[in-house]
Amino acid sequence: MMTLTMLTRDHAYRMLAWRFKEGGIDNASLDARLLVQAACACNEIDMIREPGKRISGTEESLLAQFEERRLKGEPVSRILGRREFWGLDFLIGPHTLDPRPDSEILVEVALTLLPVDKKVTILDLGTGSGCLLIALLHERKQATGIGNDLDMETLNLAQENALTARVADRATFRHGRWAEGINERFNLVISNPPYIRAADIALLSPEVRDFDPVLALSGGADGLTAYRELAQVLPALLLPLGHAVIELGAGQGGDVTALFEGAGLEVLTIANDLGGVPRALVARLPRP
Ligand SMILES: C[S@@+](CC[C@H](N)C(=O)[O-])C[C@H]1O[C@@H](n2cnc3c(N)ncnc32)[C@H](O)[C@@H]1O
Repeated sequence: MMTLTMLTRDHAYRMLAWRFKEGGIDNASLDARLLVQAACACNEIDMIREPGKRISGTEESLLAQFEERRLKGEPVSRILGRREFWGLDFLIGPHTLDPRPDSEILVEVALTLLPVDKKVTILDLGTGSGCLLIALLHERKQATGIGNDLDMETLNLAQENALTARVADRATFRHGRWAEGINERFNLVISNPPYIRAADIALLSPEVRDFDPVLALSGGADGLTAYRELAQVLPALLLPLGHAVIELGAGQGGDVTALFEGAGLEVLTIANDLGGVPRALVARLPRP
């Protein structure tokens, strides 16, 4: 039998928001609301309709665990094991980078390069949750794509995410190092590679440093290791009229442009993210 506590949903939410605020958490109210909703298996509308509904003992102890984890710095998305990206729902796990809103600019730019009514092919290098590939396949119904990653566990989640987004019949996931085992050429190659300088990882916020996998963050001593490797493999992965759309870390535009041009690619443009940071570099093979 379910035991009810004296605590209502609304009371639980207000108490949690207050403790998060006291604990120095930035989005205290939002985080509290999301965690109460998750613990009580209800949505925003249920919270508004039935603020006085008493929560059960099980819900209360789940909420206490969520509170403890959040106060130790774990992001809400990690506690819930999911994150919304491009309006779609993605499972994330300990081996998966938590997809960032900044990366949505890559999808936006890539969509301008992919015709709606043609059978195009996409390669997503370092697919993680699969968010970039899956968002593109969701928008371009005739497209097919491959997502690769060096981490097998994140590939398993990407596969599940493709099923949830109903694009699994057009997505293939491959385990390996960048272009390893990939012999085709593509209309679009997209990638958000690891680009944080190794020494800077210790300086990241605990939410990132302690919870995002290091394989997804570390770009080696100067942050450019993955870009060097991508510069070498991209020319052989692009169709003659294809494009590469590659995420940049803040301030890396000049270095990455030099690396790509040195490998024989033409850099067309770099689009800013919503925060005004140059983020999505577009490159292609030189036109004859
Ligand atoms: C910054 S994360 C990006 C994940 C996802 N595409 C996104 O935007 O949220 C980089 C991804 O590259 C993968 N990765 C790191 N080194 C790799 C390599 N040498 N070959 C293939 N994937 C690699 C990591 O496991 C991680 O999933």
